[in-house]
Amino acid sequence: MKHLLTLADLTKEELYDLLDLADSLKKEVKKGVFTPYLRNKTLGMIFTKSSTRTRVSFETGMAQLGGTALYLNANDMQLGRGEPIKDTARVLSRYLDGIMIRTYKHSDVEELAEYGSIPIINGLTDYVHPCQVLADLQTIREHKGTLTGLKMCFIGAGNNMANSLINGGILAGMEVACACPLEYLPDEEITKHAQASGRFTLTQNVLEAAKDADVLVTDVWASMGEEQEAAQRRKIFEGIYQINDACMAVAKADAMVLHCLPAHREEEITEKVFEAHADEIFDEAENRLHAQKAVLVTLLKD
Ligand code: CP
Ligand code: NVA
Repeated sequence: MKHLLTLADLTKEELYDLLDLADSLKKEVKKGVFTPYLRNKTLGMIFTKSSTRTRVSFETGMAQLGGTALYLNANDMQLGRGEPIKDTARVLSRYLDGIMIRTYKHSDVEELAEYGSIPIINGLTDYVHPCQVLADLQTIREHKGTLTGLKMCFIGAGNNMANSLINGGILAGMEVACACPLEYLPDEEITKHAQASGRFTLTQNVLEAAKDADVLVTDVWASMGEEQEAAQRRKIFEGIYQINDACMAVAKADAMVLHCLPAHREEEITEKVFEAHADEIFDEAENRLHAQKAVLVTLLKD
């Protein structure tokens, strides 16, 4: 494993190695042990979109690992004034030991990896959100004891979260059911690949997707960069693509609920369901730290 651009690049063994390492790093933290696996290492963190969890968990993660993280707002860099990504990649590779980038176009992240000579970590693109789904899988396994054979249901827009949940869920050995409107389906290539596993379904029937689910997941109807479509999207999603009591009633009695956050209450999830499952959702947010430390140690450690 050289980079983490998308979970689709991982083998099942690499995925489980990351999850196991995330669990053991979490145990260390809970015991107050902070092994400096990345002493003298520096991670650059390029952001062209907002972030709370990704920025803080990566920065804290590097500090806990004995390294340093640099927050690089793309607008303050020459990148924001048109310096090419391929030049930025070659320059930053001379200073840094790794780059985490959150941006719009996935091809920009691929270009960074192609021209740079250091590990690149995708902290979210319009296409996928692999770090989030590593944390999601860690959280599910923590609560359920296993991932194999569990049914995960995603309700909402076929966005970066849907794409990564499909990639990660199928790779982990789960059953994945997505309820997404025809206008906003997940990536075609990703769904085709998932369909070949025989463990994937895509429907517009929310209750059918939620039926007997062990885990229900949702995300905002309009992602970062899609704000101007919010009103149009609302017409399609409202009252249908929501985790609510009706979904919970058809899911398994002990079903858990995840949300990558930030959440829009009474849109993709009701306040009632959100608060009833807040412990799981905030464990999920915490696990960003542990899962990403596993990625950092795997990619950056000598
Ligand atoms: N879930 C997530 O990536 O959160 P931020 O946008 O706050 O980083
Ligand atoms: N789908 C959301 C996820 C935010 C963490 C977005 O891209 O804005």
